[in-house]
Amino acid sequence: MRQSALFTKTRREAPRDEEAKNAQLLIRAGFVHKEMAGVYAYLPLGLAVIEKIKQIVREEMQSIGGQEIIMTSLQRKELWEMTDRWDDKKVDVWFKSTFKNGSEVGFGWSHEEPITDMMKHFISSYRDLPAYVYQFQTKLRNELRAKSGIMRGREFVMKDMYSYTADETAHKAFYDSAIAAYLRVFERVGLGDRTFLTFASGGAFTQFSHEFQTLSDAGEDTVYLHRAKKLAINKEVLTDEVLAQLGVARGELEEAKAIEVGNIFDFGGVKSKQLGLFYKNEAGEEVPVHLGSYGIGITRLMGTVVEALSDEKGLVWPENIAPFALHLVSLGKDGDEVSRAADTLYDDLVKAGKDVLYDDRDLRAGEKFAESDLIGIPKRIVVGKDAAANGIFEVVDRATGAVSRESREKLLAK
Ligand SMILES: Nc1ncnc2c1ncn2[C@@H]1O[C@H](COP(=O)(O)OP(=O)(O)O)[C@@H](O)[C@H]1O
Ligand SMILES: [Mg+2]
Repeated sequence: MRQSALFTKTRREAPRDEEAKNAQLLIRAGFVHKEMAGVYAYLPLGLAVIEKIKQIVREEMQSIGGQEIIMTSLQRKELWEMTDRWDDKKVDVWFKSTFKNGSEVGFGWSHEEPITDMMKHFISSYRDLPAYVYQFQTKLRNELRAKSGIMRGREFVMKDMYSYTADETAHKAFYDSAIAAYLRVFERVGLGDRTFLTFASGGAFTQFSHEFQTLSDAGEDTVYLHRAKKLAINKEVLTDEVLAQLGVARGELEEAKAIEVGNIFDFGGVKSKQLGLFYKNEAGEEVPVHLGSYGIGITRLMGTVVEALSDEKGLVWPENIAPFALHLVSLGKDGDEVSRAADTLYDDLVKAGKDVLYDDRDLRAGEKFAESDLIGIPKRIVVGKDAAANGIFEVVDRATGAVSRESREKLLAK
């Protein structure tokens, strides 16, 4: 894409009403637009990042048997009453409204209830199990505090997956494969080294739920890390009993701030029983279906990458989720030799199937480099006089600042 055609612009100043580093940088670089506290629109560059993260998550969910669907945002009150989660005292993030006929409707903050109710149409026998479904959806939550930028939205994209299995054993096997898939996701988005499988409270039968916590000073959670075992324990479950169970000593743990990027949960048969999702087993008995629930905050993950990897010059995207792989920056003036060399290289890179943002604008070099640093594309190719005269291009690595000089042939071969 030619940058002269991109409708968004970068800004020098951070917006005054935004305290979170992730949102400040993303707004300055033109990735997101703040509509109100906790509510953000995603612009072309931001959307490209979101779509790349989603595609990684999609591949990993498919690899463990997940099938993609999209549920509705409007939800029936009756279903949430059946599980005692309609009451605002039980769930404090509900947005609700009323239809013109006066009946109430909820805006989806989560989807266990409607998905489980829907599955009654498809699951009645042991032959129908297992089933694994997932979606990417905009969740609506009336969050009390929305000061962490895109990491705590009142409207945000979540991937939520639900597993329907016959029993504890089948559930456990899938649950473990989901843990492995989640760890692959965090690795692929560039957070593998700082994301920890974390023991947290909850779970119907198991004593724990599992969170995935990424170390960051911007985190709202406190965790206790065991670096050698690559696990963490959430503050709320840090007891002598749990330490003994996990085989770790208090003195080996390190307190740290972290961001909850994912959460997986075992509901056992409880919710299925409440909502009436039973199957007939081989002995002909009616048994509640075992439910597991698996969330990743897609937009939160994007914010976490910004918090973790950006530097004083701006955003730094890992290759796998960068909006573009290459930032081609021309130092030429309209129609001169340098700009013609840049045009030609741009055409060649596009033909070679590369994802390129081409800064073809007539601006000062310093201004272009500062903007390029702010946007944070992994590799910058600079086309200056040397390119026009000798076919040599300067390649700058955004993360390390390392500079190399490459011939056009070597560049294209890469
Ligand atoms: N307000 C939010 N904004 C952005 N992402 C969120 C928000 N709330 C939750 N998430 C993401 O969705 C995942 C699943 O949510 P869940 O565990 O149900 O939320 P919570 O921990 O707030 O009860 C979380 O691990 C987190 O990554
Ligand atoms: Mg959670």
